[in-house]
Amino acid sequence: MQLGRMNHVGVAVPDLDAAIAFYREVMGASDITEPFDLPEQGVRVCFVNTPDIADGPGTQVELLAPLSEASPVTNFLAKNPAGGQHHICFEVPDIEAARAEFEAMGKRILGPTRIGAHGTPIFFVHPKDMLGQLTEIMETPKEAH
Ligand code: CO
Repeated sequence: MQLGRMNHVGVAVPDLDAAIAFYREVMGASDITEPFDLPEQGVRVCFVNTPDIADGPGTQVELLAPLSEASPVTNFLAKNPAGGQHHICFEVPDIEAARAEFEAMGKRILGPTRIGAHGTPIFFVHPKDMLGQLTEIMETPKEAH
């Protein structure tokens, strides 16, 4: 595996607008993307951008709200009604190579490789094979931040 930058932390929330207001008012976030639907993953999302650092782009918090009862986030919120940390996302230079490496290590990959919220291919690895942490692997976007 070639570990890349930590791209974002996914946080499930019951109310996206309330979570955006929280990040603005409590955390002082000034750069939050417009929410959009990601029907393939059953979620509505937006990204809170943290400031860039000297040698590269800052990371993001991905706020995730369920689009329907069938959303994978619905179950999570049933267990964590106030919301909570849902997944962590690392970049890799080559998504197919990373998938093959996780498979070779016997890690359980959840579903097909698909296009994620950043428009690049992603897949998820089962938390039980990842120190209890649902892990998203995403290919580094080609264009600059
Ligand atoms: Co994510």
